[in-house]
Amino acid sequence: MTKLDRSTSQRSDTLRDIPLAACKDIPRREGRAIRIGERAIAIFNLGDRFVAVDDRCPHRGGPLSDGIISGATIVCPLHAWKICLESGAVNTPGHLRACIRTYPTRIERDTVVIKWPGDHDVEAEDSSEATV
Ligand code: FES
Repeated sequence: MTKLDRSTSQRSDTLRDIPLAACKDIPRREGRAIRIGERAIAIFNLGDRFVAVDDRCPHRGGPLSDGIISGATIVCPLHAWKICLESGAVNTPGHLRACIRTYPTRIERDTVVIKWPGDHDVEAEDSSEATV
């Protein structure tokens, strides 16, 4: 009989709900930068839903929250790579297999809530004013 290492399995399986922002604070077809602990998250209002991804382009780290939304794709503001906000995959240039992390979201009492895989106590902070 195999004994499970509970500390390891609990850490990797733990998803926590973290409120990110009020829905009204993210206008339709725009993004916002939110910081959760050390991590920068970009949250987007696609009109019929909200999506959240890492706020760092896989090319050279451009702030995706400042990009232009096209359908369910974000166009990086630095060099125009196009990244799918549903899967995190880079669509353009098409020959790459780069990907960014995506996070499940839901709406609870007019607030966008993210499923956060981290295992430390963190709070979301609006970092849009700190973004250059
Ligand atoms: S940093 Fe995003 S395309 Fe270059």
